Amino acid sequence: MRITAVVPLLFSLIAFILSLLCVFAGSKRGYLENGDLLTLNTSMLGRLTLNTSSSHSSLLNSIESSIKGDINGLVADVAKKLNIHDFYSAHILDYCEGFYTPSAVANLTAHPSKNVTKCSNQTATFHFDPAKAIQDELKPGINLTDLKWPSKVQDGLTAVKLASNVMFVLYCIGIAAIGVALIGALIGVFAAGRFAAMINTMLSFLAFFALMLASAISTGVIVKVTDVVNKHGNDIGLAAYQGKTFLGMTWAATILALLTSFVWFAEIIIGRRRQA
Ligand SMILES: *[C@@H]1O[C@H](CO)[C@@H](O)[C@H](O)[C@H]1NC(C)=O
Ligand SMILES: *[C@@H]1O[C@H](CO)[C@@H](O)[C@H](O)[C@H]1NC(C)=O
Ligand SMILES: *[C@@H]1O[C@H](CO)[C@@H](O)[C@H](O)[C@H]1NC(C)=O
Ligand SMILES: *[C@@H]1O[C@H](CO)[C@@H](O)[C@H](O)[C@H]1NC(C)=O
Repeated sequence: MRITAVVPLLFSLIAFILSLLCVFAGSKRGYLENGDLLTLNTSMLGRLTLNTSSSHSSLLNSIESSIKGDINGLVADVAKKLNIHDFYSAHILDYCEGFYTPSAVANLTAHPSKNVTKCSNQTATFHFDPAKAIQDELKPGINLTDLKWPSKVQDGLTAVKLASNVMFVLYCIGIAAIGVALIGALIGVFAAGRFAAMINTMLSFLAFFALMLASAISTGVIVKVTDVVNKHGNDIGLAAYQGKTFLGMTWAATILALLTSFVWFAEIIIGRRRQA
């Protein structure tokens, strides 16, 4: 029995769980919603544009006048008036939507928290397209052009479409490799041979490599989309937030996979010394 193999066993177990959580967070309504890639806050969408635009739709006009009439700026939730949700959060396989409770805006006593009402179906080829989700929900007669949805935001989202799919494949490779390495580590605890250590070094290094690429791509997607939304969307009341929990989980899994391969590699060296 090889006691030292318990360390890489633990490392790869944690890396395996973390990378699974990254992929399956948000797969059910409210399940690990904090593991989102990024969240779009649409609670004030159109607040400024509606206030200043002169539209021909009577529905829009009535929403506009209710915003204009609100001299103190107390219309807390334009989203509800437009029939859309307060937030849309992107996950790897789907997106979720819902409302902030108790209100979208924080004050001294109320701290907004997410209340997810629905998540889309999970698909391997999912890519986040909030404009479509919002357009489908908007009251009939209103469309995103009325709200001056920026084309730059749309371009930014289209730019990361391919990356979103590559990212999923890389997570699958990483999870599969670290999963097999986990079984290998279990065997390695009982079989003291150098051969097991070699196989485990390779598997955990492969897992590290796939997870590193997946983390780099997901980080790139998160940074790119939140930047483009905050740069071009603030004017229409759109805000985007990076998923800090997701970033923490994916990079922790990556580093643990790297450490696992280091420990197994050390096992090979030690095994060679013992033999010599
Ligand atoms: C609407 O626009 C006017 C100026 O055009 C501004 O004074 C007012 O504060 C705005 N109202 C809201 C609710 O943003
Ligand atoms: C804070 O917001 C909540 C929910 O909208 C509201 O009930 C409460 O009166 C607000 N408190 C203050 C101090 O504005
Ligand atoms: C959502 O966005 C609005 C407008 O930008 C902001 O006032 C509000 O605090 C945000 N809410 C949350 C929960 O981030
Ligand atoms: C969340 O939304 C549901 C309706 O979709 C509601 O029944 C529930 O009370 C909400 N939860 C909180 C904490 O507001």
